[in-house]
Amino acid sequence: MDGLIVGELIRQAIEAMGRAYAPYSGFQVGAALLTEEGKIYQGCNIENAAYTPTNCAERTAFFQAVAMGERRFLAIAVVGGKDGKPTGYTSPCGVCRQVMREFCDSETFQVILAIDESHWQKYLLKDLFPMSFGPENLG
Ligand code: THU
Repeated sequence: MDGLIVGELIRQAIEAMGRAYAPYSGFQVGAALLTEEGKIYQGCNIENAAYTPTNCAERTAFFQAVAMGERRFLAIAVVGGKDGKPTGYTSPCGVCRQVMREFCDSETFQVILAIDESHWQKYLLKDLFPMSFGPENLG
């Protein structure tokens, strides 16, 4: 994963954050998901007056991509904060980690937590989500 693509993922995650629908928490999140073929799918969090139907930015990106026929992914960048500006590092919730686990190789899939293009951290999914349950556990 070279620096150029990391920068592009962070730019696209920040752009997607601008489309977040988060009137209840006031916390906007954006994500940019990279496929094996180099396509990028964006996602934002989409909240709901009934609260529980809320969809996180990461899952929005995954569901958009899977709905377009994508199944193979390399990395996702995530940004989040109040007032439309990334502040601290926003780490994916447990439900989003489980969705990543469904479609990604935990040993190689990279989760990039970013504030801007010069402040980011990179983790392997296996380190964020150890001893997880996945498709192969069902035989
Ligand atoms: N949220 C995300 O979209 N992704 C995360 O990684 C953490 C949380 C959203 C859900 C909710 O709309 C808001 O942030 C506050 O939890």
